[in-house]
Amino acid sequence: MSTETTNAALFERAQAVIPGGVNSPVRAFRAVGGTPRFIRSAQGAYMVDAEGQRYIDYIGSWGPMILGHGHPAVLEAVQRAATEGFSFGAPTEREIELVEAIIEQVPSVEQLRLVSSGTEAAMSAIRLARGATGRSLLIKFEGCYHGHADALLVKAGSGLATFGHPTSAGVPAEVVQHTMVLEYNNVEQLEEAFALQGAEIACVMVEPIAGNMNFVRSSVPFMTRLRQLCTRHGALLVLDEVMSGFRVALGSAQSLYAKLIPGFKPDVSVFGKVIGGGMPLAAFGASRAVMQHLAPLGPVYQAGTLSGNPVATACGLATLREIAKPGFFDALAAKTKRLVDGLETVAREEGVPLVGDCEGGMFGFFFAESLPQNYKTVMAGGTERFNRFFHAMLDRGVYLAPAMYEAGFVSAAHSDADIDATLEAARTALRA
Ligand SMILES: Cc1ncc(COP(=O)(O)O)c(C=O)c1O
Repeated sequence: MSTETTNAALFERAQAVIPGGVNSPVRAFRAVGGTPRFIRSAQGAYMVDAEGQRYIDYIGSWGPMILGHGHPAVLEAVQRAATEGFSFGAPTEREIELVEAIIEQVPSVEQLRLVSSGTEAAMSAIRLARGATGRSLLIKFEGCYHGHADALLVKAGSGLATFGHPTSAGVPAEVVQHTMVLEYNNVEQLEEAFALQGAEIACVMVEPIAGNMNFVRSSVPFMTRLRQLCTRHGALLVLDEVMSGFRVALGSAQSLYAKLIPGFKPDVSVFGKVIGGGMPLAAFGASRAVMQHLAPLGPVYQAGTLSGNPVATACGLATLREIAKPGFFDALAAKTKRLVDGLETVAREEGVPLVGDCEGGMFGFFFAESLPQNYKTVMAGGTERFNRFFHAMLDRGVYLAPAMYEAGFVSAAHSDADIDATLEAARTALRA
């Protein structure tokens, strides 16, 4: 690796050999324009780019780095695990430990299968739901992202009785013919879809707190009705907690809804990000009865060479042990709230309409008068304003997600001084 280089030079070099210069599209800064920063290293709440510029990091690898970068306990666990062996293709005790640690916090899950990415976990959860119910139809919501499995790359059709259209080339229309896309937080549409096709619905997959359209909560009436309709019609409710899991609360978003809706629990849960602590690890889980449908016990096939990888499980386990310590989430939530409240205050003082919301270590803010409830209202405006703000913040050493429709993340490593510095940067950036 060259020592004297620029982000622009690296981007140029990357584009010659990697499509768009990146290995995941949002990293390319297409939404906000400009040159992506190539990160050389990260420690605590900071990342340093190829030019030696330091940033306060509010992406945290898009969620996993809840402890910040290079937490000593995690680093030690990973180093020890790497010395013991990278991958065996045979079971290890640590897989059991990690699964037990997850299940301990999420009572709706009795059994869990480990995989390597959120995409794989969500895709497998759908196959499981279809196999367990013997039905094909899948309902998802506009603005929710569940990874890039073919059946999930769909946008809404023109009416409820029509099915979605692929949002990616390479996904045949026939592949999404069993996927119905509804509006998030729209109870009437939900009622109508179940009235029309309730007996064919295998599962409804939803992000309980959507982090892929910035930060939008499922309303309590919406989640309540969703649970009732799934139960009544024998469909499985699949909560995609890849982002919200162990990030908004130790018991994940489902624990928050369980406090608000008596008896609430999902049938299937999907996890990723925090449970791997920054290593490629994800999982899906359900009751023992549902999970018995999976191979090798049942007829639903699912497998993975690197599933439950020993280094990844060590990283995830060390991370979960830290976040389970008393007071961890209260401190993280207070810090995140301080950031979001501060942004609202600074914006008000600068005469800029801005509203924010947060839960645990996850947050979002909108250049709007009130919090949007669905994808359409999230995307209704503010793009140009956000892009200017994003670049002005980046220039001042604050790294926000490079797109208006992405959530932000605070880690335990962010100090009050980091939040203050961020708010100070925001005051100037809002004038940009
Ligand atoms: C809610 C949700 N589900 C699934 C995924 C896909 O996970 P991965 O990128 O690990 O494949 C993501 C990724 O951001 C996500 O936010």
